[in-house]
Amino acid sequence: MIHKSRRQKLLNQIEDNGLIILSTNPENIRNGDVLYPFRPDSDFWYLTGFKEPECIAVISKDNYSIFLRERDPEREIWDGERLGVSRANEALMSDNAYPISELNQKLPQLISKSEHIYFDIDNTYRGSEILEMIPKSKLKSIKHLINEMRLHKDELEISLMRHAASISVKAHELAMQKVRSGMFEYEITSLFDQIFRANNAEHAYPPIVAGGKNSCILHYINNDQELHENDLLLIDSGCEYEGYASDITRTFPVSGKFSNAQKEIYSIVLDAQKVAIDEMYVGNNIRAPHFEASRVIKEGLISIGLMKPNDDIRKFYMHGTGHWLGMDVHDVGDYNIEDSPRRFEEGMVMTVEPGIYIRGDAKIDTKFHNIGIRIEDDVLITKNGPEVLTGSLVKEIDDIESIMTK
Ligand code: GLY
Ligand code: MN
Ligand code: MN
Repeated sequence: MIHKSRRQKLLNQIEDNGLIILSTNPENIRNGDVLYPFRPDSDFWYLTGFKEPECIAVISKDNYSIFLRERDPEREIWDGERLGVSRANEALMSDNAYPISELNQKLPQLISKSEHIYFDIDNTYRGSEILEMIPKSKLKSIKHLINEMRLHKDELEISLMRHAASISVKAHELAMQKVRSGMFEYEITSLFDQIFRANNAEHAYPPIVAGGKNSCILHYINNDQELHENDLLLIDSGCEYEGYASDITRTFPVSGKFSNAQKEIYSIVLDAQKVAIDEMYVGNNIRAPHFEASRVIKEGLISIGLMKPNDDIRKFYMHGTGHWLGMDVHDVGDYNIEDSPRRFEEGMVMTVEPGIYIRGDAKIDTKFHNIGIRIEDDVLITKNGPEVLTGSLVKEIDDIESIMTK
């Protein structure tokens, strides 16, 4: 039902005789004849609710047709049950269901009735074939309208995102409790695998489990090094539940006690994150969290003598403070409207993730070396202000130290 109302809402934004073609992404080979687990295209999932590969939806105001794989008793022994053509209309609320093998015969007929054909080829199944069937003069892009819809989360999406967040919170708590020096980063990674799978979720993106100097590598995913007593451990890991991502980073000491230098840097990042969250309210400039976080980080680093007023903050803080979050971890949605930053609106979800990264070759007191700290939460914009979906996960120094010694 929700998918039908989403299709309706999308159709209301195009011409009466417009027609939208959506296609899943293809299955991908991992190696030999082994495929990666299939994960449907987000737009396709969002608008159809259908999670099988090799499927194409054709949507107009008076007809919703779906092309899908036929039942195949032989293949189903190997790969599991398929919905199949005869059950599709009832399950998907479509008007017509056709075998995908009939795409070349049927799609031109469906297209021929319409003057405006909306289709985006990016990474879609049989995309170039579909494109060839569409007269150039009729072709339009639908992506932008779908992106705007996905950017504003509906109630169901918000509840799924809350649930994804709660699963990820549990995994981060377990990691804080279980870490000991001498363990390897992959042993901590496995706690995330376990909690996610035990809750019918999976990783939304490759987890970063980075001890010591690895905490300064922004996209570290090897996760194969030993953890030492004096290391910090930076973990950026979030699950996807029913198509919706969470994205959390916490940084904590392997020993369970922050050193004074670690505390100094951590406190600056935490202050930066808090002022950034305060900026996440309806009507405010979406760049405000980054401006404020950057200001607090710069002032903090100047106050402890690690930066001078004219230094470039990007030496220690070289990424943005947040991104849209939803079905994709870096979710769709414009950040600017006509070259100006857009304003926060109800139902948007953005991460807030300031950090400071001091590598071992920085020309400053060595007690600060190899300290990489990021604190990341997921924030829903509501009419009552920011709601931190991941807010139950500890981040104050005392609270982290206390959960780690229990
Ligand atoms: N985990 C990806 C990110 O924080 O953007
Ligand atoms: Mn993020
Ligand atoms: Mn992250």
